[in-house]
Amino acid sequence: MFLYNLFKGETMDQSSNFPYIHGFSPEEQNRLRTQALFGEYAIYKEINFSKVKKVLEIGCGTGAQTEILLRRFPDLKLTSIDMSDKQLTEAQRLLGNNPRVNFLKMDAQNIQLEEKFDGAFICWMLEHVPSPEKVLASALKSLRQDGVIYITEVMNFSFFLDPYSPNIWKFWMAFNDYQYENAGDPFIGAKLGNLLQKVGFKDIQTRVTTWHFDNRSPEQRKETILFWKELMLSGADQLLKENVISEEVIENSKKEFDNVANDSNAVFYYSFMQAEARA
Ligand SMILES: C[S@@+](CC[C@H](N)C(=O)[O-])C[C@H]1O[C@@H](n2cnc3c(N)ncnc32)[C@H](O)[C@@H]1O
Repeated sequence: MFLYNLFKGETMDQSSNFPYIHGFSPEEQNRLRTQALFGEYAIYKEINFSKVKKVLEIGCGTGAQTEILLRRFPDLKLTSIDMSDKQLTEAQRLLGNNPRVNFLKMDAQNIQLEEKFDGAFICWMLEHVPSPEKVLASALKSLRQDGVIYITEVMNFSFFLDPYSPNIWKFWMAFNDYQYENAGDPFIGAKLGNLLQKVGFKDIQTRVTTWHFDNRSPEQRKETILFWKELMLSGADQLLKENVISEEVIENSKKEFDNVANDSNAVFYYSFMQAEARA
């Protein structure tokens, strides 16, 4: 895809010839693990694979969710796919000895597996692909009849911080515009119902989960704001290289994040979408 040529350096997995806004550095790989553990309680509250034997994990990254799935559902066998050699190498390093998981390199938009699965799992991945519809159609083909799919996805329009922080806003808008213009979709969560219906899933349910932290939970609020700082800044190098943001906005954003994190009256708000459906 032409737009893909815009991505360079750390954000390009050279061996797989494909881009990813957060990049593939060791810091990013650690961030994915922190992110998975940070979100575990909220994400897995409604995910139930306890009666499911074989699950296809689509876009497994460094294996951060794989580890959680294996731990939470001790009878589960996983086939976990990703398109990036770098992510898969890290996942293999983390979990390669576990006989319950098989990591495979594959484009999720064109899954080529003979095997049929009882379940599928997608987390923070559809936002990065040019055709989420193809991923879901591929997932549907890989599921046996009545197999269940769980998807967790971003809705970046829902982010709010108080006190108002103008540089963080500039950064966030640039981050989302950049992802949107480069064949990703930072707003995809809200569209999951339509997408699942279009490709032929049934019994579709969607749920919005909100992280809303204020004076009632000051420790969680601070932890979340600092986590968000890391998440946003993981895109900074790329946005700077592409000239869509200035060094000054990045530096001011860092200061604003620290100010809000230490403000005794701050508010953090973000909602994401989860979908569940049957093949
Ligand atoms: C934000 S990471 C999420 C990883 C993991 N699900 C987690 O929550 O830690 C997105 C992953 O999707 C992978 N990815 C992006 N496009 C893909 C595609 N077309 N096929 C397979 N994997 C893809 C990237 O390599 C990356 O590892």
